Amino acid sequence: MKRIGVLFGVENSFPGALVERINSIHPEDIEAEFVLTGSIALDQPSRYAVIVDRISHVIPFYRALLKHAALQGTVVINNPFWASADDKFFNYAVALSVGVAVPPTVLLPHKDRPNDTSERSLRNLEYPLDWDAVFKAIGEHGYLKPIDGGGWRDVTEVRGRAEFFRAYDNSRDECMVYQKAVEYTDYFRCYVVGQSKVRVMAYDPRRPHEERYHARMPRGLAARRLLRRMERDARTLCRALGYDFNSVEFGVENGIPFAIDFMNAVPDTDPRTVGEKNFNWVVDQMARLTISKAKRPPRRPGPDAAKLLVPAGEQKLE
Ligand SMILES: Nc1ncnc2c1ncn2[C@@H]1O[C@H](COP(=O)(O)OP(=O)(O)O)[C@@H](O)[C@H]1O
Ligand SMILES: [Mg+2]
Repeated sequence: MKRIGVLFGVENSFPGALVERINSIHPEDIEAEFVLTGSIALDQPSRYAVIVDRISHVIPFYRALLKHAALQGTVVINNPFWASADDKFFNYAVALSVGVAVPPTVLLPHKDRPNDTSERSLRNLEYPLDWDAVFKAIGEHGYLKPIDGGGWRDVTEVRGRAEFFRAYDNSRDECMVYQKAVEYTDYFRCYVVGQSKVRVMAYDPRRPHEERYHARMPRGLAARRLLRRMERDARTLCRALGYDFNSVEFGVENGIPFAIDFMNAVPDTDPRTVGEKNFNWVVDQMARLTISKAKRPPRRPGPDAAKLLVPAGEQKLE
């Protein structure tokens, strides 16, 4: 019997619905369940053909468990090696290299020194920083955000240098990017599953959480063209980055969809925010994806550990 395990934290709806959906399909010789674990020995085989990870970004024990399981041949969604290595600035650079529009973005040195470092640790840093070059590249209306952010943590919209420096001075030892604000007329969030299935959802980040997905989908020829482009761009990004489950956000300015956030290894799937239809779609697609991954012949565990870091997008797609 091959097993699909779901590893999760506080969320209540998605893990149970996914396990139920997989088991209701009755795939031959495959069963889904919640992961249950204690300590792990080095030579312990993994119980799972596939694990869907919804929580290891905040539980280091789980991240280590998943990397170990991956070495034993378990397919982990999303790749725990990649999730550990990725950052937003790198993401934007990858987007540029694969032809997806992103807002101009600069990487900034930490405002405060990281703990346990001294002035001497930063001798390679120019001082003072050339702030004129930063504002020339980005302008004075932008967003300051951490490179490893999520859930809008420490994201600040700034207008003008005074606001910028107030936010930057408050960024402590976080590593931040400063990004040009997209003056968007429409905003979308897309689920991308298995690097192929895309669901574009109108989303208004200015509304309260439970109303954000109530935004209207645009209609007409230009809208259809825009939707196709976002589907293509979202797929391109997830293939380049190797995410099997991701959400990709676009802000549309002058008809161009700018990719704003696409480092969401644990996308929001709460039916109270995304709504029943989107919830059912994502549960269904994740059930199909995990079953198809479980059906694959097991990856040979072995000495190729370094290859596990390579985003799946670089590997052969099924
Ligand atoms: N360059 C930008 N232009 C316009 N809005 C932005 C931009 N960057 C971030 N935002 C707004 O801030 C929100 C949070 O930023 P995001 O990059 O998604 O961070 P997080 O990963 O923490 O969610 C976005 O959903 C969007 O509403
Ligand atoms: Mg976001």
